[in-house]
Order: sequence, then structure tokens, then C-alpha cells
Amino acid sequence: MSYHVDQNGYYGRFGGAFIPEMMYPNVDGLRNRYLEIIESEEFRKEYTDLLRDYVGRPSPLYYSNRLSEQYGAQIYLKREDLNHTGSHKINNTVGQILLAKRLGKKRIIAETGAGQHGVATATVCAREGLQCIVYMGALDVSRQAPNVEKMKMLGAEVRPVYSGNQTLKDATNEAIRDWINNPEDTHYIIGSVVGPHPYPDMVARFQAVISEEMRQQLKEKTGSELPNAVIACVGGGSNAAGAFYHFLDDEEVKLIAVEAAGKGVDTDESAATTALGKTGVLHGSKSLLMQTEDGQVIEPYSISAGLDYPGIGPMHANLYETGRAKFMSVTDEETLEAAYNLTEKEGIIPALESAHALAALEKLKFGPDEVVVVNISGRGDKDMETYLKHFRAKQ
Ligand SMILES: Cc1ncc(COP(=O)(O)O)c(C=O)c1O
Repeated sequence: MSYHVDQNGYYGRFGGAFIPEMMYPNVDGLRNRYLEIIESEEFRKEYTDLLRDYVGRPSPLYYSNRLSEQYGAQIYLKREDLNHTGSHKINNTVGQILLAKRLGKKRIIAETGAGQHGVATATVCAREGLQCIVYMGALDVSRQAPNVEKMKMLGAEVRPVYSGNQTLKDATNEAIRDWINNPEDTHYIIGSVVGPHPYPDMVARFQAVISEEMRQQLKEKTGSELPNAVIACVGGGSNAAGAFYHFLDDEEVKLIAVEAAGKGVDTDESAATTALGKTGVLHGSKSLLMQTEDGQVIEPYSISAGLDYPGIGPMHANLYETGRAKFMSVTDEETLEAAYNLTEKEGIIPALESAHALAALEKLKFGPDEVVVVNISGRGDKDMETYLKHFRAKQ
């Protein structure tokens, strides 16, 4: 069985491009050219050079002595938090800006939740001297204030969105609206493996560098390219897609995807899509989606702005349905505990999103020789206010 996209943009029964007619020229233009461009030697060279010299790749694979001791397994952390701009999101924006340039686009738009994708987009736009507009839910604007200031300093215009829950879904709606109105000169840099085909595949390919490096680094450190398990958090699913990509066909590697349960999957405040969702169409692709009986999107909730999304990308919906990946969820509380634990034990303050992946370790059982890689998708600077609030409440 293939877990990759097919000719028509589907992963099993998920994916496709469900878009209004007015978006056809944009999406078609991209679909027709993305593979030829990103597989060309000249593109690969520019992309790889930038990942090395600008982003700082390869990101280290760090053996955590103390988590290994605590959980009774060989635990490695893939340090995407050490990338330029503080998360995995930069891998994708570097790729997409190089693509946009080759498509002759002059204006860049993006959506952002935690702000990491917005900062990464503003960064590559600054480097290329391109106009940048970032849509962001008004709630996220207030809870991710440091990133909003960074985007502005980098020259981007941040447009707050006041509809819905004022989070990522609403920001995405606005970005799509903008793109429909500006088909000629604008490229939309989507930040996750969501949206109409070819976005899920394209973003997964740009993030696949994570698992490509993991294989090489594991070989050097353990003698084998294959770990027993890879754990990553899932908002839309781009860091998980990247961390899983080069292990998809190695069925002996357990792939573990961690969603945000928020206050619990049995409360009204959750973002655990596979636990609560059904098949539906959102933002141009068919996937799993939290929705009411009559198909209205249920507003998600998570303490973590980057996981506060009512769906998952179609690749993940397929991994869930085929059983190739195990999906689980952890609550806000469990996440905060895991973040403090990593900070205390390793001196690493993770992003709230990444702390979800760490919290899964509490719920899983591994043997002492089993090699487990946890993808640390980003650093916690942007979440300091939330951490401090929690810390003060505990004292
Ligand atoms: C650090 C970090 N990790 C994870 C995510 C979730 O996105 P994805 O599931 O696409 O990796 C975000 C989103 O903003 C993020 O900032």
C-alpha cells in the first residue's frame, strides 16, 4: 500500500482539490508546475544550500539521557526548535518562496496560528524583498504577541481576523478569500499539509528533510537507520508529515501522531480531530473534520495556538484510517506538565505544540532497547506568557 499522494491528489479516499471556480487558475498553475520545479537540480541546490546556511540544518538529533531514564527507552529529540525562526515551519517557507519566485509571483500571503508560520513567511519575504500579508485570528494575535511583533519588524502586514473563534481556521478562510481576489500576482504560502492538492504533498516534501536527516543521524548514532517509533504533534500535520515521510514504507517503525485534547475529548473544548471528527471538506480538501451532524464546523480549542484547528491534512486522515499511524491526544494539563518536565530535565523549553508530543511518552510503553524519536517542532519563547501564568497558578 502506498501512503503517498496519487496522480489525482488523493491519499486513499482523502485529499483532492475542492475549490471554487475562481481559485482554479491559481491551484492549476501550481499543480501543473510544482513537481517539475522542485525536482529540478537547480531548485534542489538553492533549497539545500539555504537550508544549510540560512536555516542551520541539519538540526541535531539529541540523545536525552534523562528522558531515557525516566521512560525506560532510548529517547532522542529531533531539534527543529534550533532552526532559524524557531520551528520546522521555515523548511516549508524557504521551499515555497523559491517556488513563488520561479512562478513569477510578487505578493505573498499566509495564514498563521501560533505565529511560527507567519514569522517564517515574513522572514523569507524579507530575504527576497517581497510584499507579505499574514492573516491571523484575533485571539491568536493576543496570545502570540511576540510573534506578531516579529512579523511586523520583518516588514509583514499582520491582518487580524475577527470571525469564528478568531483562530487558525478563520485566518485560513481570509487568506483563501484574498487569493481568489488576487489570482495573478499572489502566491499563498500555506503553512501545513492542508488545503487543495498539491499543497499537502508539496508541504510534506519540503518537510521531509526532517526524516531524511533522522535516518542518517540514527545510523551514525545507533547503527540502524530505523527507530522503533517516531512521535510528533499534529495540528494540520506538517511537522508530523516531515518526521514520518521517509519511514512511511518501513512498516516496522511505529508512527505516533499526537493531537490536542484541550480540556478533554469529552468536553466541548478540544481539537482532537481523529477522536471527534468525521469525513468532510475544509479549506479545499476532503479529510477528517470536527463538525456537527449537519456539517457545520465545530470550533476547536487548545491551549496551543498551532494545534487549534478543526481538521487534519488528508495524508494523516489516511494514515489514521489505514492504521499506519497511531493517533492519540493529550490534554492542556498533560502538555504543560510535559513542557516543565523537559525544561527541568534537559534545559530545553519546548513550544506548547511540541510539548504535546512529549506528553505522549507518559501514555506509551517501550522496551529499554527501543529507540524512540520525539520531534521537537519548535521552541517555547513564544509561549512564555502561557507558561508563566501556569507556573504562577501552581505556586
Ligand atoms: C512549533 C509548532 N509545532 C507544531 C505546529 C503545528 O503545525 P503542524 O501540525 O503543521 O506541524 C505549529 C503550528 O503553528 C508550531 O508552531
